[in-house]
Amino acid sequence: MLLSAEEIEEQLKKLNMIIPVRYYDAIGSTNSAAKLVHDETDKHYLVVAGRQTQGRGRNGRSFQSEFGGGYFSFTFSLGAEDVTTQLCGSVMLAALAVRSVMEEYGVDCSIKWPNDVLCGGRKLCGILSEVVYDRDFPDYMVIGIGINVNNPLTGIEDIATSTLIETGRKLPVAEVVARIVRRFFEMLSDKDFEVMTEYRKCCATLGKNVRVTSPDEEFYGVAEDLNEKGMLVVRTQSGQRRVVSCGDVSIRDVLS
Ligand code: BTN
Repeated sequence: MLLSAEEIEEQLKKLNMIIPVRYYDAIGSTNSAAKLVHDETDKHYLVVAGRQTQGRGRNGRSFQSEFGGGYFSFTFSLGAEDVTTQLCGSVMLAALAVRSVMEEYGVDCSIKWPNDVLCGGRKLCGILSEVVYDRDFPDYMVIGIGINVNNPLTGIEDIATSTLIETGRKLPVAEVVARIVRRFFEMLSDKDFEVMTEYRKCCATLGKNVRVTSPDEEFYGVAEDLNEKGMLVVRTQSGQRRVVSCGDVSIRDVLS
């Protein structure tokens, strides 16, 4: 069944949240659409799609987005902290918000640093955050979330999962989307919420053997900790301490 902007707004209203919504049955990428809508209106919107034809993942990868999943992006103003800290922090917060809402539906998740929400070692949800610059100045942030709900997982069944697979029942996508957005902003505005502490508790990467790949190199080590900015601290096989900010990390014990 197709969604509508009214249905999503209705679900948000039930959670005491008002944010303008744009809904598209099909669009290239909700992250790109959220930027366009923001630049046209100068307002922060929630953009939701029934499916994406060019869903984007991290590091230039694509994100499969068939009907039945939750594909959505929202924008918000940046705060005073440095951009890297806010980028890492918001990705972590988004992953925690997804995990927390999934708990309400009886789906137990962990987080693969920095932004994959896993269930039983398979990916349930991916998150793509982007900072938009106005000339040379960071202007606002876009958070894009793709969660497998009732959608088929064509050709990725070994590495991905959905709430349908995990619970055996179809969940209401508009409600799932609204709850995640609400939870994100709730956590963001809660000054007492300890992002790093909460993240450490459910991070599947910590303590694992990892492979780090970046455009320039590849190395192996153990993921020891997160630093104060949320970057991954890896002890390499030769005993070096390396801080990873944007490399691509695989957990060798969990995912290949
Ligand atoms: C990843 O797994 O590397 C991140 C995937 C992020 C996918 C979401 S779906 C909604 C939003 N629009 C996009 O094009 N990407 C994000």
